[in-house]
Amino acid sequence: MTNTVAVEGPKVSNVGDAASSHQPCAVSVENASVKFGAFTAINNLSLEIEEGAFYTILGPSGCGKSTFLRLVSDLVPAASGDVRILGKSTEAARLGRELAFVFQDATLLPWRTVLENVELPLEIGESTGVDIPVSEKSPEELLELVGLKGRENAMPHELSGGMKQRVAIARALVCKPKLLLMDEPFGALDEMTRDHLNLQLLKIWQETGVTIVFVTHSIQEAVFLGQKVVMFQANPGRLKEVIDIDFPYPREITLRDKPEFIRHTAYLRSLLETCS
Ligand SMILES: Nc1ncnc2c1ncn2[C@@H]1O[C@H](COP(=O)(O)OP(=O)(O)O)[C@@H](O)[C@H]1O
Ligand SMILES: [Mg+2]
Repeated sequence: MTNTVAVEGPKVSNVGDAASSHQPCAVSVENASVKFGAFTAINNLSLEIEEGAFYTILGPSGCGKSTFLRLVSDLVPAASGDVRILGKSTEAARLGRELAFVFQDATLLPWRTVLENVELPLEIGESTGVDIPVSEKSPEELLELVGLKGRENAMPHELSGGMKQRVAIARALVCKPKLLLMDEPFGALDEMTRDHLNLQLLKIWQETGVTIVFVTHSIQEAVFLGQKVVMFQANPGRLKEVIDIDFPYPREITLRDKPEFIRHTAYLRSLLETCS
């Protein structure tokens, strides 16, 4: 975990830095392209994400952010290039439950309680007879971790949008994933709820050591959460730049008022304008 003092200004990473060290990468993408028929959604993208890191992804609508997460999680194939999760194929990582996904919509089963929704991946694992990893924390403890202690027996329709997302996060952690992929998980929430969940997510990240790749539309959210912000460019979807965000953790909401923070967001806003 970085513990350096605030940076002077935006610093641009060399993409592929981690490849030169011998640390295993949580995600290693090499010259990967994704095609839907004749349409190229992602073109020749290379990116290394170190184990335990928190990366956020920004970019204009349609630039391939969701497709990138789907590529990493083995939901769409690479037309060319190579994708490795902790040195394994994406299929092996998916089957071994090394990765978990949280979407913008929590997609809870409405007929199951909060606790039963969190337990679902364990039940599915048992029914398929596949040996899956299980978090040392019980489903109840994971609900406590996301701030839902006391709501175990509530039904999804009784919960606010923010609470549903917390349940989805607890459910994603139940199989102890090494990699958590989050696609605009707080995009539909009001600002206060989002702030609160941002802080909680950072706490979860620090407590669990899980690698997080987090797609957002919000420049502020991207800078607040991430150690690195990855900017994607559209037409065709590809990598534009990786920006280091060296603020120490734990981060507080007031960080956003600091000049160094505003310098980062201003830089990313101008960069985003060049990415459509
Ligand atoms: N299953 C699909 N079939 C055809 N085109 C798709 C499919 N999924 C995504 N696309 C296209 O790929 C591009 C990237 O989409 P997406 O990854 O969802 O963008 P983002 O998440 O950055 O907004 C878009 O032009 C989208 O229409
Ligand atoms: Mg998307």
